[in-house]
Amino acid sequence: MKEKILHKFGEVFGDTTGVKTYFAPGRVNLIGEHTDYNGGHVFPCALTIGTYGAARQRADRKLRFYSMNFEQLGVLESSLDGLKPEKEADWTNYPKGVMWAFEKRGFEIPYGMDLLLFGNIPNGSGLSSSASVEVLTGFVLRDMFGFDVTNQDLALIGQYSENNFNGVNCGIMDQFAIAMGKKDHAIFLDTADLSFEYAPIQLEGAKIVIACSNKKRGLGDSKYNERRSECETALAELQEVVGIKSLGDLTEEQFEQYQTAVKDEVRRKRARHAVYENQRTIKAVAALKANDIEQFGQLMNASRVSLQDDYEVTGIELDTLVEEAWKIDGVIGSRMTGAGFGGCTVSIVKTDAIDSFIEKVGAEYLKKIGYAADFYVVEIGDGPSVI
Ligand code: GLA
Repeated sequence: MKEKILHKFGEVFGDTTGVKTYFAPGRVNLIGEHTDYNGGHVFPCALTIGTYGAARQRADRKLRFYSMNFEQLGVLESSLDGLKPEKEADWTNYPKGVMWAFEKRGFEIPYGMDLLLFGNIPNGSGLSSSASVEVLTGFVLRDMFGFDVTNQDLALIGQYSENNFNGVNCGIMDQFAIAMGKKDHAIFLDTADLSFEYAPIQLEGAKIVIACSNKKRGLGDSKYNERRSECETALAELQEVVGIKSLGDLTEEQFEQYQTAVKDEVRRKRARHAVYENQRTIKAVAALKANDIEQFGQLMNASRVSLQDDYEVTGIELDTLVEEAWKIDGVIGSRMTGAGFGGCTVSIVKTDAIDSFIEKVGAEYLKKIGYAADFYVVEIGDGPSVI
């Protein structure tokens, strides 16, 4: 891949003198969905697919961007001096947003750069292609200008840029999973205080299979921000009767005790999901530690039911993928992953059942939805690196 992007860099920007190459992963969340902005736990992992970048510092303040995924757009030019949140639907808002966020944090970026990207994560699939670009950009900036920031800072800067430059009120999960990724481990992160623990994922005789619905989803135009504010309102109502900082502070029993404080039935369902999903995530990690992968799978399945019924972020495409997956022998657990409304499902499938899983789920999906799903048998990889 390094040769491929270097070659393209030379073609697009003239030559490759002084160019460095980088990689930042995508991520998949195993369980703990829509909990990261509710002070709950998440359990994502970085993937070995992600975003490749080639970058070179310039002698002026110009920015030149090129994406091998959007070749038709050609070279997109901008300047470090013009960085401001703009409502334009172009991918350069992600790297520009991160540069803007560095400056907001007091890091002055002295020179512009030529930056070429190639992503092998399907765009808009719910595997965090945008967070991957954000973390990659931060990593490049740190490497190029020696900024004193940790990988965790890169995650926070990425989230800040997504929230304030790109207008998506996302939590910290995606950027954190990508910046802090560790091969063969998932990250058990408490989003209330960012304490975390790496948990080894040793799926004896099974693998993680991602099914991509190919229903495109943009977080900005989805109901993501709406769900977030529903939870905020429910929290404020609950705070009238119980001293909590976030929905993640509640146990299931406490929720049952206090839930009538949430006046609206829809909001109550949203809050119920946030509380129960957080508890499920804690239980799932405990099950994994006890080597009880069947229990882990059951909790994944329960997560999906809650995301469908209480959080209402699935839709026919994701529902079909999961329901067909559940019919296959050898599927330990299956659920939607990421924001929802489209994107992907994540399943744990016994190795000898993977071929029939892909064939059968794929065929039923095509029959019902009218276009094909894509399947990826994935590996858990490290965070960003120079390659
Ligand atoms: C998106 C957001 C994350 C998280 C998930 C849902 O991926 O970027 O912060 O909220 O949705 O779990």
